Amino acid sequence: MYSRHRFRGLRRSLAAAIVMLASIAFWLSQPAYAEYGDVVINNYSDAAGMRPVVFPHWFHRMRFRCKVCHADLGFQFKAGGNQINMLKIIDGQFCGACHNGDVAWSVENCNLCHSAKPGTPTQVHESTIQKLAAPTEPARK
Ligand code: HEC
Ligand code: HEC
Ligand code: HEC
Repeated sequence: MYSRHRFRGLRRSLAAAIVMLASIAFWLSQPAYAEYGDVVINNYSDAAGMRPVVFPHWFHRMRFRCKVCHADLGFQFKAGGNQINMLKIIDGQFCGACHNGDVAWSVENCNLCHSAKPGTPTQVHESTIQKLAAPTEPARK
């Protein structure tokens, strides 16, 4: 025979599992905000009614040599320093050299790139310059 005590333990671990799954679901449902070192690109997005683009630089740096993007694909070493638009991307330039459903997922995943909070200006997120320029602003984490 099962004791009530044992059922209570089972119920408690079930409840814990549900709480854990719920928090994971909540976390996954949150919009992706820029992290340290990410480049936010917003030359045109806001004006076009799209969220600005978050480019996770370190994520890409771990996978490709600098040369691939900054020499072969012609990306300037400057946040916002490239005139990127969707025509060029679909044409295979810039992000579109890889985000073509071949090297990486394709352009129809708008929200994976256009993920910054509306109004976020072009920047290297949490760069040293930014910190020096606004020393009183509380750190956002
Ligand atoms: C692989 C990343 C990526 C994906 C996916 C992507 N975009 Fe973009 N998009 C960019 C970049 C980078 C820019 C330039 C951002 C800027 O300077 O504001 C841009 C700019 C834009 C612009 C403004 C310039 C223009 O071409 O008019 C619009 C509108 C836009 N995207 C719409 C979309 C829509 C709609 C989708 C999905 C069908 C999409 N994007 C998917 C990266 C992407
Ligand atoms: C997958 C493509 C890709 C790779 C690989 C890559 N970069 Fe970048 N890099 C970019 C893009 C895109 C930007 C932002 C350009 C823009 O906003 O128009 C950028 C911006 C920069 C900037 C200016 C912004 C900042 O963070 O100060 C520097 C410096 C830079 N890259 C250096 C490097 C170095 C060094 C490497 C290799 C270790 C590297 N990048 C690898 C795509 C890449
Ligand atoms: C040299 C190839 C290359 C270029 C250029 C490139 N990407 Fe990517 N990107 C990748 C690959 C590969 C992945 C991983 C795809 C996967 O996990 O299926 C990726 C993943 C991503 C992710 C998801 C990161 C994550 O945490 O899962 C974002 C966002 C992204 N790229 C945005 C961009 C934007 C914006 C540009 C242009 C400014 C760009 N990429 C240019 C190859 C590239």
